[in-house]
Amino acid sequence: MDRFNVAVDVVQNAGDLLRQCRLEESEICQKTGHQDLVTHWDRKIEQLLRNEILTAFPQDSIVGEEYPPEAHRTGSMTWYIDPIDGTTNFINQHQNYAISVGCWEGSTPLFGLVLDVERETLYWAKRGGGAWQDQTQIHTSGRRELSELLLTTPGLQYTFLEPHPYQERMIRLSRKVRGVRCLGSVALELCEVAAGRADLFVTMRSSPWDHNAARIILEEAGGAVFTVDGDELPLDQKSTVLAFNAMELKDCILCV
Ligand code: IPD
Ligand code: CA
Ligand code: CA
Ligand code: CA
Repeated sequence: MDRFNVAVDVVQNAGDLLRQCRLEESEICQKTGHQDLVTHWDRKIEQLLRNEILTAFPQDSIVGEEYPPEAHRTGSMTWYIDPIDGTTNFINQHQNYAISVGCWEGSTPLFGLVLDVERETLYWAKRGGGAWQDQTQIHTSGRRELSELLLTTPGLQYTFLEPHPYQERMIRLSRKVRGVRCLGSVALELCEVAAGRADLFVTMRSSPWDHNAARIILEEAGGAVFTVDGDELPLDQKSTVLAFNAMELKDCILCV
């Protein structure tokens, strides 16, 4: 089996497990505080993904949220995996969370998968092959006026409320767009832009495992992804993220 098919199988199996699980209060732990949680299931799903991927492709490297990177491997392939993107939603809502798996060869994207676990919806893209929601090809929206755009951001507090160098700009942007929505999962929100149900995405903090699968899907759907400064999004570092439905909107959004 090739990497893409292995990835689809392991992501679907992991999704089946999560859909059936019943989370106990004792399985929830704080990492850096009460807004940064991890559960037994985050770790278990990441272990499962790592085991399946490394059994099939032992030379590949894996960058995941819950385990430190392993010793450098010899291959050129790197997988970016988030076992549960939207842990808080998983805990409080048992919906609106995703499993995110992206595979890159050096700095070249190969494919990205984002499974919306509870809706049993798989977003996926292979480089050059378009973006898909299950069997249906998806495209970003055709909206080009700021006043028509729906902005999605995973957390109001770090995008608009906490002081940071972009705060004023973000507040101006929020006033110019048609509306602001918060879903609470970077991967699912980038897929919302890819599918044309949102037009613009912004966050002040995102990690490679949050966005490296969904950015492939968004770009294949016609969208564009940058840092908030309009620079190329780094592959291996935490970063701000600014993503939107079409490259031609870049100047207009950066000038707000
Ligand atoms: C988080 C979610 C959340 C976003 C955070 C991410 P996690 O991922 O995507 O919406 O605001 O920045 O870290 O911890 O649920 O995998
Ligand atoms: Ca987390
Ligand atoms: Ca995440
Ligand atoms: Ca996570």
